[in-house]
Amino acid sequence: MSRCRLCDAALHPVVDFGPMPIANGFLTPERFAHEKRFPLEVAMCPACAMVQLVDVVDEAAMFNADYAFFSSTSAGMARHFGRFAADVKRRLPDDPFVVELGCNDGIMLRHFADGRHLGVEPSANVADAARKLGLDVDTRFFTAALADELRQTRGPADAILGANVVCHIPYLDAVFDGVRRLLGPKGVFAFEDPYIGDILALTSYDQIYDEHVYYFSLTAVAKLAARHGLEVIDAERQPVHGGEVRFTLAHRGARPIHARVGELAAEEAARGLGQPATFDAFAAAVAASKDALVKAVRGVDGPLVGYGATSKSTTVLNYCGLGPDDLAYISDVTPTKIGRYAPGSHIPIRAYADFCADPPQHALLFAWNHAAEIVAKEADWRAAGGRFLTYVPRVEWR
Ligand code: TYD
Repeated sequence: MSRCRLCDAALHPVVDFGPMPIANGFLTPERFAHEKRFPLEVAMCPACAMVQLVDVVDEAAMFNADYAFFSSTSAGMARHFGRFAADVKRRLPDDPFVVELGCNDGIMLRHFADGRHLGVEPSANVADAARKLGLDVDTRFFTAALADELRQTRGPADAILGANVVCHIPYLDAVFDGVRRLLGPKGVFAFEDPYIGDILALTSYDQIYDEHVYYFSLTAVAKLAARHGLEVIDAERQPVHGGEVRFTLAHRGARPIHARVGELAAEEAARGLGQPATFDAFAAAVAASKDALVKAVRGVDGPLVGYGATSKSTTVLNYCGLGPDDLAYISDVTPTKIGRYAPGSHIPIRAYADFCADPPQHALLFAWNHAAEIVAKEADWRAAGGRFLTYVPRVEWR
């Protein structure tokens, strides 16, 4: 019986996806023979409500100099992080010290470049991209020891931020401990990650992959915060990455609590987000989604192309057993992915220019979280008969 990484209670198994390659491990053919697989199983804790992976892949295997994920590939995300930065600034004093955990290529931290700031980003290649924007970046992992060092050398933080990074960190108790040490008396810790409430509502099981160790609900985050003398002062739904919540935490009693916190807590209680039975229903929906997608893909007349070599697609392709016989290639705009192959399925990743030069009639939309942006961009292709196959929130043609 596996135990909760946070409170040590026995976990309730949810879905076992089987052995999976590294989700962001886009590779060259010489590496096919050496590609490793790791168990991918998600479970929930009936005691503290935290949804989590049972096994965690070694960080060095995921976040290294070869890390292919650059945040700044989507115009919509760049705008979103501009708004996130503006919202945080409203809560800050003059001359604030702002720390961002996992600042990636600086897509959000650049909005704080003029003031006292620090990015903590262990993936060297994206950290270099952030440095090229003039940002100050530390490439160590965020721990309580690093938090103490930063407080001594730079002073307390007025804001600690994290976008799509906190849920990646297995040793979450150490992170919350570090936050408590580094955060000034009125400081805020604002982080956003995929919301388990949306994953359940949309059956977006492809959010489940090695990098996402935790799938947050307010119920679970509030319990975790309380164990570290922190409390949730705001919880805002965000329409990015398929549905996220931005949690804002502060030292207990330091700041007023927004009404949204009570509202979301009540909604989660009504939906049973802390109940094992809710997750049993999700597991059944995931199995049905897989069957429907495989049937739709195998029923396509003519070539099918993937659109967006997302990390999420690694779970879908490998769980559904889809490969180069099903998809001719996956189109993507990210230079570091083009010319490589999709993890596990070994479907080639080709430049978006290839998609434009010889448009297929059918495309499987892996980047469904950017559907609005992509459907607008591909209006001419759709007008000429092009169709997207999607699987979120259900398998259908668009
Ligand atoms: P992303 O949304 O970050 O998903 P994940 O976290 O699952 O990796 O990835 C989107 C991918 O889709 C990224 O590789 C860029 C690509 N993309 C396109 O190729 N065309 C587009 O128009 C957009 C918006 C994204």
